[in-house]
Amino acid sequence: MKFFIDTANISEIKEIEAWGILDGVTTNPSLIAKEKDVVFEDVVKEIASIVDGPISAEVTVEGAEDMIAEGKMLAAIHENIVVKVPMNEEGLKAIRALEGEGISTNCTLIFSENQALLALAAGASFISPFVGRLDDIGHEGMALVRNIVSIIDFYGYEAEVIAASIRNPLHVKEAAQAGAHIATVPYKVFHQMLKHPLTDKGIEQFNKDFEGTKRANG
Ligand code: G3P
Repeated sequence: MKFFIDTANISEIKEIEAWGILDGVTTNPSLIAKEKDVVFEDVVKEIASIVDGPISAEVTVEGAEDMIAEGKMLAAIHENIVVKVPMNEEGLKAIRALEGEGISTNCTLIFSENQALLALAAGASFISPFVGRLDDIGHEGMALVRNIVSIIDFYGYEAEVIAASIRNPLHVKEAAQAGAHIATVPYKVFHQMLKHPLTDKGIEQFNKDFEGTKRANG
């Protein structure tokens, strides 16, 4: 499973990129808005200069024609930009048009298998089911991920599933078990994944035991 980071915060992206495990970045208008005093296009450009992989930037307008125009503008920022388009009628038209012009799209706000089927039929390169938000309303978000992966495998679509709205390390583990191609993970959850008390204790013990051991170079 590939890892994207779900943030528009430059220092978070730089830190996790330095771990050597990052394959891409997803942003959305709420994440961009959390970064105060920034220009949307500048943030997207800077992210693309840090991470060498797909960078999702979401359209902020309604109506297919406007989405297509904004999508083209975003795609022109960098060759790795993926245009994130919401799941609705206008979004489907925009996905079809942008993909037809060779611009990759990520269909976002997917909450059902039928929505995923429509996004796949429109030609989206990435499908983003929102796991946490489904869990929030008492549904099993990960079942949706599993089902979309099965549909993609069954029909041989080339699209990749991005398990999105990931809230905790259990979501990441279950996304991998469900066969998600990608998990887009918040900064905090990357740190939670890294930690285990027995690892910390083990490192401390190894260092303590090794103290005073002679080394070849003194
Ligand atoms: O990738 C989608 C994600 O940003 C939504 O997450 O936690 O706002 O549901 P959340």
